[in-house]
Amino acid sequence: MTGPEADSPQTPTEVRDALGEASYLADESVALVAFLAQRLGRPVLVEGPAGVGKTELAKALSRATGREMIRLQCYEGLDEAKSLYEWNYRKQLLGIQARAAAGDSDEASALDELFAPEYLLERPLLEAISSEEPVVLLIDEIDKTDQEFEAMLLELLSDFQVTIPELGRIEAATHPIVVITSNDSRELTEALKRRCLYLWIDYPDPEREAEIVRLHEPGIDERLARRLVEVVAMVRDLDLRKPPSISESIDWARTLVLLGADDIDEGTFRESLSTIVKHRADLDLVAEKVAPALGRGEPAGSPGG
Ligand SMILES: Nc1ncnc2c1ncn2[C@@H]1O[C@H](COP(=O)(O)OP(=O)(O)OP(=O)(O)O)[C@@H](O)[C@H]1O
Ligand SMILES: [Mg+2]
Repeated sequence: MTGPEADSPQTPTEVRDALGEASYLADESVALVAFLAQRLGRPVLVEGPAGVGKTELAKALSRATGREMIRLQCYEGLDEAKSLYEWNYRKQLLGIQARAAAGDSDEASALDELFAPEYLLERPLLEAISSEEPVVLLIDEIDKTDQEFEAMLLELLSDFQVTIPELGRIEAATHPIVVITSNDSRELTEALKRRCLYLWIDYPDPEREAEIVRLHEPGIDERLARRLVEVVAMVRDLDLRKPPSISESIDWARTLVLLGADDIDEGTFRESLSTIVKHRADLDLVAEKVAPALGRGEPAGSPGG
């Protein structure tokens, strides 16, 4: 395997700029961890609330480095056969039939032949390991799987290799950038954490969020974008079942542009509320606490409005 150095960036700033060009506005901690991941060749475990850009970070790294992204979407019950490899039984069966028809009865050689790479179905993890070109491997929402699955990942994460009993060890030909995301729905194992660099992504500060919103919806003017993230921050401060994420801020910006709104007053807010709040109980709470404050023309908590 070639070292992680080959096409590695020289500074965190370089990484931040490259991500910026790939339409991802990274703060310092994100840029630093993404830099270290590439320089040290270590996987990154990214945690944080829903919709703060965990998955997008992997996609942006793929765009920024020109590497293909291989994605493993995790779910409850995900196993080795769906994530690593599976033997192609149908093809093996045809192989057995072909041998029988040819009158070949040498069992030992038959076994060798039937468990050869050509009968292997590569799933995302093996695909990433065996790729000739360096890739970005995204293992998305690992907290949806169980501890057994994590254990299976350990060899891959520390040595960039996997062992297939019938074939032996398969080492990575190139060094993948590995991004593992989690929504923190369960505690991950220490063993997994030890192998990874850790990155916590939180809601961005208002300035960065306004920038992100304008990046995704260039049609919104700067002042309205600032006002939007201010109001979103007020909504996040309430004790909601599902606080609005960056995705909701972006959706709301698109909605406001479509509605031709140039400010967010109580009326506009009520009209477009369902873009950012998506639970019945949350809707009631937000309508009660935030909407009236907007009607008075001065968002609570922001000096001067
Ligand atoms: N720093 C950023 N720069 C540009 N866009 C961003 C940034 N952070 C988030 N986004 C945008 O916000 C949206 C949500 O991001 P993403 O899907 O990556 O969130 P997530 O953390 O993976 O959420 P979930 O936990 O729900 O999977 C995407 O449209 C993404 O492009
Ligand atoms: Mg995600």
